[in-house]
Amino acid sequence: MRRGIFITFEGPDGAGKTTQIHRLRDYLISKGTDLVLTREPGGTRIGEKIREIILDPEYQEMADLTEALLYASSRAQHVAEVIFPALKSGKTVICDRFMDSSIAYQGYGRKLGEKVRIINEIAVLGLIPDLTFLLLVDPGEGRRRISDGFLDRLELEEMQYHEEVYRGYMELAAQNTERMIVIDGSLKIDEISVKIIKETTAFLRRHQG
Ligand code: TYD
Repeated sequence: MRRGIFITFEGPDGAGKTTQIHRLRDYLISKGTDLVLTREPGGTRIGEKIREIILDPEYQEMADLTEALLYASSRAQHVAEVIFPALKSGKTVICDRFMDSSIAYQGYGRKLGEKVRIINEIAVLGLIPDLTFLLLVDPGEGRRRISDGFLDRLELEEMQYHEEVYRGYMELAAQNTERMIVIDGSLKIDEISVKIIKETTAFLRRHQG
């Protein structure tokens, strides 16, 4: 059986990923796609526990490298338990954040650089997304959008950190043009979802063609 397609969504906090992920999921299901929707950090029982530790504002003492390794551990479990089995059985997998998040947040935001890529290459066993939607809103706007609710440990970081994350994403987009599609998150919700559905349909046509 042909391996399923692996789609990821990326972007700084407040870019509007969740709404768009749900719209793409609903669209693909309406077309009869056998689909798994999952998220990082988390996606498994073990991953959800790790997520609680990482995001808890209580743990101010967490070392940057610990944070990067925890994300990678959660990802290793997620790939082994959920993503690989689903892809192997021919399902389409949509994942809310994946390895690019670690490169942007820990590699650029925390300035851990190349180490993050190396740790993650080990964690994902060579799995690379087929298609990645990168929703970008400038860091100031992103913060305004999330500042109404409860902020987790990462969201509480200084503006400069969020600017570095944004820069990381821009560089990732420049380095991965074959799979990453950059979308202006300040466009209207409907405009964005039309674009995402169009790009996905075109990809599926090429891939299955
Ligand atoms: P969460 O509230 O689960 O996600 P989202 O912002 O996508 O709704 O929080 C995830 C936070 O973790 C978010 O601030 C991004 C960050 N993150 C990393 O720093 N590195 C990673 O590898 C991943 C997957 C997420």
